Amino acid sequence: MSTITRSAKRKATEEETTRPSKRSHVQTKKITLKKLVDTIERVVEENSKIPLEKMDEIKQALMDYDGNMDELKRYSQFDASRNYTRNLIATDNEAYALMLLCWNKGKYSPIHDHPSDGCWVRHIQGTVNEVRYQNNGKELVESSNMMISEGVSFMTDALGLHKIGNPSQQVDAITLHLYAPPYDKCKLWFDPSDATKVSTAVSNFYTEYGELTN
Ligand SMILES: [Fe+2]
Repeated sequence: MSTITRSAKRKATEEETTRPSKRSHVQTKKITLKKLVDTIERVVEENSKIPLEKMDEIKQALMDYDGNMDELKRYSQFDASRNYTRNLIATDNEAYALMLLCWNKGKYSPIHDHPSDGCWVRHIQGTVNEVRYQNNGKELVESSNMMISEGVSFMTDALGLHKIGNPSQQVDAITLHLYAPPYDKCKLWFDPSDATKVSTAVSNFYTEYGELTN
């Protein structure tokens, strides 16, 4: 577990809290990254962790987030040698971790589980493909296959396993992920035809607060 401080985290998002929507005729409420983090922090501080009954409030804040790339630029770090990068934006090391995932063209995550209460995914750029599976003990059976080009989705082990990736050969994809609580390890499956072949992945970040971790 990295030793990330709240002050460092706050430093990462010290920008204005609101800005006018460019599409105010469609949606009047748009919030900045700092306001999004403030909302998550408030829910965390009021509840010690993000409870399931607060999902709607968190989801709404993720939907209201303006996704401004000027603000996200420092976290938008691609590495051609990896399928994707995980870039930490904010965490309290206990209840939540907010991160930007940058997907190279045509690259996917392995199939994985979510050892936490849940993970929210907010679309930022490009199109991502989410494929969900059910584990019947022998194999992982595909249960859904979605192209996501807008909005917010939620995933938890109760809904199965999944993989996410960027199916495009032309456009990089970016997604914003909120884990509650954060986790150090998760399980991976590289062969859906054999559910017994399970690997363990240790959580790590390519950047933390815009700085390379190694
Ligand atoms: Fe996931």
